[in-house]
Amino acid sequence: TQRAMSTLPRVYVTRQIPPEGLRILRESGQVQFELWDSDDVPVPREELLKKVKGVDGLLCVLTEKIDTELLETAGPNLKVLSTMSVGFDHLSLEELKTRGIRVGYTPDVLTDSVAELTVALLLTTSRRLIEATHEAKTGGWGTWRTLWLCGHELANSTVGILGLGRIGVAIAERLAPFKVKKFIYTDVVPRPELASLINAEYVSFEELAEQSDFLSVCCALTPETKEICNKNLFSKMKNTAIFINTSRGGVVNQEDLYEALSTGQIAGAGLDVTVPEPLPTTHPLFTLKNCVILPHIASASYSTRNAMSSLAANNLLRGLRGSAGSLPSAC
Ligand code: DGY
Repeated sequence: TQRAMSTLPRVYVTRQIPPEGLRILRESGQVQFELWDSDDVPVPREELLKKVKGVDGLLCVLTEKIDTELLETAGPNLKVLSTMSVGFDHLSLEELKTRGIRVGYTPDVLTDSVAELTVALLLTTSRRLIEATHEAKTGGWGTWRTLWLCGHELANSTVGILGLGRIGVAIAERLAPFKVKKFIYTDVVPRPELASLINAEYVSFEELAEQSDFLSVCCALTPETKEICNKNLFSKMKNTAIFINTSRGGVVNQEDLYEALSTGQIAGAGLDVTVPEPLPTTHPLFTLKNCVILPHIASASYSTRNAMSSLAANNLLRGLRGSAGSLPSAC
C-alpha cells in the first residue's frame, strides 16, 4: 500500500545502472528508491545534493564524489553507501567511517574482465596495433619491410606489477602462457600468498622500474600512490619498456609520462585511465603514436557490468539490513 511504501528505507541511485541491480532493488520489497535515470550524463552535483537529503542508502558510481559536503547534506539517516566499482578513491573513507556509514564495493566480479582488457591493451601497445591498422587503411602499407612496425614481445620478458592484488595476479596468470621469463612486483609490503600463485619475486620500486620490460600498474589510488609513476620512475625504466595503466589515472604524472614517451625514454604506454576523464581530445598524449588511450573500459563486458550492478544492489540491501559492511582496504 501507499502507507507501507512510504515507511520503507529511502535510497537514491545516482545512475541508470545495468538492469540486474535495479531488478534486485525493485523486487526486494526492502527499499523505495529514486534514480538518476540516465547513463549518458552523470547526475549534476546540485541535483545529487538535493536528492541525498534524508536518504537511508546511496548507490553510486565512480563519477560521484562522496565527501564531507555530500555526507553532511545527506544527514544522519544515511547508513549505507554502496559503490558500483572496485575503486574507492572517489569516497572519503575517513568521513564515512567517522559517521558509521557502511561501505560496499564490488571487488572480484570484475577481476577477469579487467585482466583480459589489460592483456589486450598491453599487446595492442607493444605490437603497435593502432598504428598498424592506421597505416594499412591510409596507404602507408608499402612493400613488406624488415623492421617496419616492429614492437616488443612478451616471450623471454620480465613483467613488473606495481601493486599486487587480485587483478595483478589475474593479469600475470594470463600473460604466463606467452612465455614470460619472470614476474616481479612491488607493493607497500610483500604479498607472499598472492605472489606464490604466479611465482613473482618481490623487488624494490627502483628494481621494478629498472628490470621491467612491461610494467603494469594495478594499485589503488590513495594519497600514497598519487602520481607515484613520475619522472623518477620513467627515468629508471628501459627505453624498450612498455607502461600499462588500468588502475586510476591519478597514479601517473601525465606531464612526466608525455616527456618519457616523446623523448623515447620508454617505448610506449597503454592507458585505460587518465586525469581528467574524459581526457580532452586536445591533450598532448593523444598526439603520440606510442601512446594508446582507452576510455576507461577495463570492466566493460556485459556480464561483468551486470555482476557489478547486482553486487552493488545486494551490498546496499545487506548494509541496510545491518550486516557488516566491507570496508575496502588500500593497495
Ligand atoms: C572500478 O570498478 O573501479 C573500475 O574503474 C570501473 O569498473
